Amino acid sequence: MKQPGMSLVTEDVIRAHVQEIAVRIDADYPDDTLVLLGVLKGSWMFLTDLARAIKRPVRIDFMSVHRIRRGEELANPGQEALIAKYPESPLDNSHVLVVEDIVDTGVTVRQILAYLETLQLRSVQVATLLDKPARRMVQGLTLKYVGCQIPDVYVVGYGMDFKEDYRSLPDVRILDRCRYKHCVFYTDSAEDFCSEVCERSDFSTQEVELIKEF
Ligand code: IMP
Ligand code: MG
Repeated sequence: MKQPGMSLVTEDVIRAHVQEIAVRIDADYPDDTLVLLGVLKGSWMFLTDLARAIKRPVRIDFMSVHRIRRGEELANPGQEALIAKYPESPLDNSHVLVVEDIVDTGVTVRQILAYLETLQLRSVQVATLLDKPARRMVQGLTLKYVGCQIPDVYVVGYGMDFKEDYRSLPDVRILDRCRYKHCVFYTDSAEDFCSEVCERSDFSTQEVELIKEF
C-alpha cells in the first residue's frame, strides 16, 4: 500500500543513521551506567531501534515536555515549556543520553537539559535522529549524535505525528504538497525532482508537473 506524501528519509537511510550512532555510543561509553532518556512521544521509535542497535547495556527512561500554547501564557508567565513527565528512576551517577526524534526550535531540549543540570550526573549528551536548524531559537545547543539535518519542512512518521496520526509509518515523510519545492535541492535537475517525487509519493504525474512549476 502506498503511504501518504513523500519519503524524505527512507527506512534504509534511517537504519544506517541508527547503526552509525549506536557504534559511536558503544565506543564513547565503555563503562558505567548509561540511561537512554527518551523524549515522549516522538522519540519512541528511534529509541527502540537505537537501544537494540547499541551493544552495551543501557537503561531506559522517559520525560515529556509541554510547550506553552497560545492562551496558556497568562497562567505560565515567561515560560515557553514545562516538564510534563519526569524520569521514574534515579539518574544520579549515571551517564544520561537524551534521545529526541527531531530538534527544531530547541526549546524542548533546553528545558530537558535545564532539569538534568539540577541532578548529579556523570554526563549529559543529546542524540537526535533529525536536526532542523533553520528554525532554531536556542543558540549554543550541543547535539552530539545527529542522524541527519533536514530542511524547514514539517515531517511525520518514524514516531512523529501530525495531530497524533502517522506515528507508526516506518520512514520520515512530508505531507504538505506545497512544501515539496523545498526538497528540490536533494536532486540535481527538475527532471530528477519529478521522477523522484513520482516514485516516492502518491502524487499523480499531473500533480508533479504542477509542483515543478513552482
Ligand atoms: P522544539 O522544541 O521546537 O525543538 O521541538 C521539539 C519537538 O517538536 C520535537 O521533539 C518534536 O516532537 C516536535 N516537532 C518539531 N518539528 C517537528 C516536525 O517536523 N514533525 C513532527 N514533530 C515535530
Ligand atoms: Mg520530540
